[in-house]
Amino acid sequence: MAGSQSDPANSERRLVAVYPGSFDPLTNGHLDLIHRGARVSDHLIVAILRNTNKQPLFSIEERAEMIREVTASLPTVEIDSFEGLLVDYAARRNANAILRGIRAISDYETELQMALLNRRMRPETETIFLMAAEEYSFISSRMIKEIVMLGGDVSRFVPEPVSRRLRAKSVR
Ligand code: PNS
Repeated sequence: MAGSQSDPANSERRLVAVYPGSFDPLTNGHLDLIHRGARVSDHLIVAILRNTNKQPLFSIEERAEMIREVTASLPTVEIDSFEGLLVDYAARRNANAILRGIRAISDYETELQMALLNRRMRPETETIFLMAAEEYSFISSRMIKEIVMLGGDVSRFVPEPVSRRLRAKSVR
């Protein structure tokens, strides 16, 4: 019966998902995934990895600021950063899912390995994959940085606030 306790649509269960990544910088593909992730979850935490080994183009604060700017209209989306194991961070944040995007078959192998390792370490956290929209399936942060370094225009591939900051970096 609609509206009854047993109605699955009335379930009290909440989906709190962590969308982790380097986001150096955020691309239109990432943003599309955030929008779609926000639609299927109750709360979505975009978690930027604090990786001290890598030499990033943008600081954590710059990356967080850009993501905050382009997700301002999404009330259930939160921006945070983390270090250490992703599953430990998910546990601390009471998240029950990790969200990842898959662009092409080439992503699958690494993503499968990460999902299986994360499941061994914390079975309570389910990894959920969303397929990247085909128009963004060829975009990666690494390629964006390469195009910018070689003087190309990336304004079609990244949100405007990112494009603006990339231009500012490349004229320095
Ligand atoms: O945007 P990226 O670089 O593809 O994101 C990779 C990320 C952040 C998801 C991955 O490197 C990660 O989860 N790092 C945290 C450390 C960790 O938990 N490693 C074990 C994963 S199996």
